[in-house]
Amino acid sequence: MKIQENISLKEYNTFGIEAKAKYFCEITSVNELKEALTLDGYPDFFILGGGSNMLITQDLDYLVLYLNIKGIETLWEDDDHICINVNAGENWHRLVLWTLERNYGGLENLSLIPGNSGTAPIQNIGAYGVELKDIFVSCQAMEIATQELQQFSKDDCKFGYRESYFKNEGKGKYIITSIQLKLTKRNHQRKIDYGAISSELKARGIEDPSIQDISNAVVAIRQSKLPDPKELGNSGSFFKNPILSKKDFHNFISSNPEAPFYKVSETEFKVPAGWLIEQSGFKGKRYGDAGIHKNQALVLVNYGNATGNDIMDMAQHIMTTVYNNFKIIITPEVNIIK
Ligand code: EPU
Repeated sequence: MKIQENISLKEYNTFGIEAKAKYFCEITSVNELKEALTLDGYPDFFILGGGSNMLITQDLDYLVLYLNIKGIETLWEDDDHICINVNAGENWHRLVLWTLERNYGGLENLSLIPGNSGTAPIQNIGAYGVELKDIFVSCQAMEIATQELQQFSKDDCKFGYRESYFKNEGKGKYIITSIQLKLTKRNHQRKIDYGAISSELKARGIEDPSIQDISNAVVAIRQSKLPDPKELGNSGSFFKNPILSKKDFHNFISSNPEAPFYKVSETEFKVPAGWLIEQSGFKGKRYGDAGIHKNQALVLVNYGNATGNDIMDMAQHIMTTVYNNFKIIITPEVNIIK
């Protein structure tokens, strides 16, 4: 285990923000993680995974632990299902490709999501009608205070829309080291109801899609709307879609009858933040090197040399304007690192 000094984090965050880590250490096993947490002289640390859901706003004056524990293995299987263990440092999309090569179903709608497997439970990643919780069995996490490994069941994780125990009560207490997922080997539960998927499959003339076809459709949709972080720095959706009470939703929709929405429950309605931001005139706008993507207003981008604070100032301006226009509060989905 080697500790490096003054390392640039530009290549380690998909926003491509330039910031330095005073100390930086790559972790490739659970034992190394244990060792790193008990090192003398480094009281504060920060856990870095795929760097795809964060905005760094200043140099990190402490130890950055880059979690890069690799490995995928089968835990058990029968004729219909397989349960796999995936270590935290496995890239999420590489995992999706690994499952498709073997015709294991469950992850196809979650194709091309940036980031690592170990961070997937923290915000219960989701796209095109599927969330991590739909295939999740459990995860293993190290308690920072004791360096002991603990098992968390799906219930323990308290998953919600872009929410989990690890973002709330468990915040700052655990480091997820591996996840366990249950996938189908046959009779795949294909989910193609999400509007964009069914129209993409139709456009391709596919009536009875395989899981590979679904993945291809999702990849095509994402590539048409969402910028590739390798070409244009970004962190996916910057904001969460706000969830409104029945009363607030009623007020909103009566003055904006053309707005898209999803019914979450009898009492809650989700409104796309991308629509609110586009209607507020921000889509495609640029402020220096910070901007709002031209195809998806929910995605903020770094044209090259934006600082975390440039992005944050723009985000604040968007939040205030959306509130003034619609009386709806939108909040960041990404973690703001101060
Ligand atoms: N819309 C606009 N203008 C925009 C963007 C969206 O009017 O600039 C409208 C669309 O026309 C559509 C609705 O908003 O009617 C929803 O748009 P979309 O299907 O693109 O999805 P989203 O709600 O903007 C969410 C997730 C994405 C995920 C997609 C597909 C959140 C915060 N974002 O976006 O997740 O890929 O659905 O399931 O829930 C991410 O988390 O990083 C992410 C990309």
